[in-house]
Amino acid sequence: MSTHINAAKGDIAETVLMPGDPLRARYVAENFLEGATCYNEVRGMYGYTGTYKGHKISVQGSGMGIPSFLIYVTELINEYDVKNVIRIGTCGAIREDVNIRDILLGVSANTTSNINKTRFLGYDYCPTADFNLLNTAYKKADELGFLDHTHVGPILSTDEFYGHDEGLEAMYAKYGVLGVEMEAAGLYTAAAGLGAKALAILTVSDHLITHEQTSSEEREKTFTDMMNLALETAIAI
Ligand code: HPA
Repeated sequence: MSTHINAAKGDIAETVLMPGDPLRARYVAENFLEGATCYNEVRGMYGYTGTYKGHKISVQGSGMGIPSFLIYVTELINEYDVKNVIRIGTCGAIREDVNIRDILLGVSANTTSNINKTRFLGYDYCPTADFNLLNTAYKKADELGFLDHTHVGPILSTDEFYGHDEGLEAMYAKYGVLGVEMEAAGLYTAAAGLGAKALAILTVSDHLITHEQTSSEEREKTFTDMMNLALETAIAI
């Protein structure tokens, strides 16, 4: 096992989907994978491996925020030879041309985190998705008929859900940033540095400008669409 994951080498697939919520990992395993078995329960951060259309796929909870995400993604890549990581998560929309329930494919992830200031000695680094994964996801979104509500562009990974200046997201939105979440910059940086491929696929769960809400049925449908897109991408790469 690794420090935070109680699995043997070989228990985890080369391609891993990572929701923030470990109960989402369990839900995906039970509803989208065949023959899934749980390989990790340490700290309740569930990880499962099963198959989708005959391909071995794992799904591992990450927890919220870059520090938690980095622990799991680093161990997956370093200790379990994971090659492709797709974050499946939610985000807040920060522009009027992005609607609730839309899908975002994060080309790059700006961040308020200091991780890259630390790693790159105070210089800038641009956390970026893997082009092949991104291109595959875009083509699959087209095949699934999702392009009318799919956006491709930069996102923002904040360190804080609460407490920051209200103008922060608006400032990034002015520069074309589509939505805000809390993990993708950690994923893109870690994967690049460790030689793995990464992409964040997000659904818009809340709107920071319109404050629109979704019903639980709508959230369910949106989540199912994102899962189909993530799984079809995972088996096409
Ligand atoms: N902020 C940060 N992370 C999020 C949000 C948000 O508004 N919505 C979903 N994840």
